[in-house]
Amino acid sequence: MSRPTVIVTRALPAPWLAALAAECELVIGPAAPPPASAVAGTRFAGRGAWCDATWSALPRADAILSLLTEPVDAAVLDAAPRLRVVSNMAVGVDNIDLAACAARGIPVGHTPGVLTDATADLTMALVLAHGRRVLEAADDARAGRWSTWSPDGWLGRDLCDATLGIVGWGQIGRAVARRAAGFGLHCLVHSRTPPAPAAGIEPVGLAALLSRSDIVSLHVPLSPQTRHLVDARALAAMQPHALLVNTSRGAVVDQDALVDALRRGVIAGAALDVTDPEPLPPTHPLFSLPQVLVLPHIGSATLGTRRTMAELAARNVLAALRGEPLPHAITRG
Ligand code: DGY
Repeated sequence: MSRPTVIVTRALPAPWLAALAAECELVIGPAAPPPASAVAGTRFAGRGAWCDATWSALPRADAILSLLTEPVDAAVLDAAPRLRVVSNMAVGVDNIDLAACAARGIPVGHTPGVLTDATADLTMALVLAHGRRVLEAADDARAGRWSTWSPDGWLGRDLCDATLGIVGWGQIGRAVARRAAGFGLHCLVHSRTPPAPAAGIEPVGLAALLSRSDIVSLHVPLSPQTRHLVDARALAAMQPHALLVNTSRGAVVDQDALVDALRRGVIAGAALDVTDPEPLPPTHPLFSLPQVLVLPHIGSATLGTRRTMAELAARNVLAALRGEPLPHAITRG
């Protein structure tokens, strides 16, 4: 019997794909998407790492293991009439047209849970690095600008007794709250399904969260409801000393409004692991603002987490190919 064909849209370390490779024929995409300038005007413009090799395998594909950089939309699905599953190596699935998959009866898998701790850790790293001016101080030390212990140099913000507003109460939001408690932060939480009030956790509406928080941290999935949730109005509701932290998806924030708010001092700073677009061009105005810290979407970037994500994504593929329910389904097809 012929082995099923699985498209893996980007190259991953071989050991992460061992279980899939044992049972399936893999068609593996490139290590990274080509620069936008290289594909402008071609059929691959805006298609992440989709390339001739992976695209031309779609007619025989039984499964797609995608990364968040590759769109899986109606055009992809139409080219793949045999497709039985789309498995995203991410917890977020905003790169996938869920309605188009559902219309074709194709289940969609993702990788919840395994990146919760890594992403919550990085959220705290952003809060601390921005709040204590870690990058700037390290740069100054390296560049010879450390002339003495300075009583008023590199002054940052106190975390103990500050108020952290957590928008979204999924696994990552909750993991951030647990870490925040250790730093003595008081947490305000806004969510569609609010938490029960507990020590150090206060459920509030979005307006109250924005106006009362010293730090606002975003932990919602990107959806039509959350796109530009933080817009000019939301930013205007924040305190002038407030810091905005985003480890969810860039488009949850209206980035033009953010640049404007930062330039005018409406809020004090932003620490962003995610941007819109990704990668953010080096010429983007956010990079010219000293009060902004931008990371290249590394929330889940630990060796253990990324390997487990790949293994979970592979388990979703193998289950679907065996006709079993996906262990981690976002939609069941
Ligand atoms: C996800 O899984 O959605 C994360 O953004 C990856 O880091």
